[in-house]
Amino acid sequence: MKKILWLLFVCLVISSNGRAQFGKMSTADSLHWDSIRRLTDQDYKKMLDLLHIDSTRPGPSGNPQAPNAANTDESKASDYKTLPDPLILKNGTQVTSKKMWWDQRRPEIVEDFDREIYGRVPDNIPKVTWEVVSITNDTSNHVAAITKKLIGHVDNSSWPSISVNIDLTLSTPANAKGPVPVIMEFSFVFPPGFKFPPPPPGTPIQPGWQQQLLEKGWGYAIIIPASYQTDNGAGLTQGVIGLCNKGASRKPDDWGTLRAWAWGASRAIDYFETDKSVDAKQIGIEGLSRYGKATVVTMAYEPRLAIAFVGSSGAGGTKILRRVFGEQVENLASSGEYHWFAGNFIKYAGPLKPTDMPVDAHELIALCAPRPVFISSGSPKVEGQWVDAKGMFLGGVYAGPVYKLLGKKDLGQTEFPPIETPLTDGEIAFRQHSGGHTTGPNWPTFLSWADRYIKTK
Ligand code: GCU
Repeated sequence: MKKILWLLFVCLVISSNGRAQFGKMSTADSLHWDSIRRLTDQDYKKMLDLLHIDSTRPGPSGNPQAPNAANTDESKASDYKTLPDPLILKNGTQVTSKKMWWDQRRPEIVEDFDREIYGRVPDNIPKVTWEVVSITNDTSNHVAAITKKLIGHVDNSSWPSISVNIDLTLSTPANAKGPVPVIMEFSFVFPPGFKFPPPPPGTPIQPGWQQQLLEKGWGYAIIIPASYQTDNGAGLTQGVIGLCNKGASRKPDDWGTLRAWAWGASRAIDYFETDKSVDAKQIGIEGLSRYGKATVVTMAYEPRLAIAFVGSSGAGGTKILRRVFGEQVENLASSGEYHWFAGNFIKYAGPLKPTDMPVDAHELIALCAPRPVFISSGSPKVEGQWVDAKGMFLGGVYAGPVYKLLGKKDLGQTEFPPIETPLTDGEIAFRQHSGGHTTGPNWPTFLSWADRYIKTK
């Protein structure tokens, strides 16, 4: 029981707005949140008007006790009959060669995701100039490391009232003989000095993920997505999205926050390519929850990434969106979450339905092929059912044919495995750990699987 309470605490401090919260909100904070809510509602309403939508269907509740609780009954989950086939062209032709995948089918899928789901990245994004703010000898992760704090300054000369900076940290082992592989995490923001409370006695202690990486001779990086694109609808006229639109609201197919976050990760890779301590051909990406969604989106669109560790990404990540289980499209398309997506995505919560979407999550994973993707989830008992572990697993299953066409191994089975059973024989991997809403307990499994692909020189 104590363990569950502790894990609950860990989940709760990461509040639904993605920032750590402590104690009661002050009046000033609540006023601030009131105005964010108001501006978000205005932006949302503007988008509905552009789409000629009066209202959308409400999503189910994430509270299992609520009368309108999200479905958690597997027998009611699959009312869809078919999924879009990643290996059939829009003209009905079967994709039979790697060339057909790369030249014909993949671009079709990219276009659908761009237009309908995550939005298009503009071609006028200003340049980023990286500044190394500090370099320190760092033993905070129990391994001697060199840690660099960096800021990516986005050129705002086209619209000086919006300034955008990317907050990045890079840490590599001090004794490295040459460039090292680096895993970059999309990170939530915690206030200075914040420490998670110690776990209750009996919880297996494992070193932190940074320490695990440094001990292997790899480096880690931490990017703060909220530093360059705020996590709410009010922020869409700010940050890098607002800068590109010169402070105006989005068009229905403009990029949403997930793609903006992914753009920042790509700019970090630009920096890594110039830093001699990093082996830029061996960079991986990891993130949890909304940042798990950002992780798989980044992997799909950024070919320089070698590997991905996608944590509890749920709906909008690797979970099949057509599945009626846990979080639904209607939730994602509501005013609290629509900013992650293109405006066009809202249409699938009314008048259209999720089954009208031209693509589904398995095709997002397929866009990552042939590169290795690890799909991670916690235990339904501790994490809850909102993320839909089986839905995320099925995303991996149905991406399998594309990996196979490209000469790689799929998940190896279509049957949902018992908890703590790693499926790690192929380039798509899956494991449900027995903890809560975290990637923590899956790091060792991820890293031993990653050893097959990433090598220290
Ligand atoms: C909410 C949201 C999820 C999201 C999660 C998070 O639960 O509905 O889609 O992944 O927040 O990022 O914390």
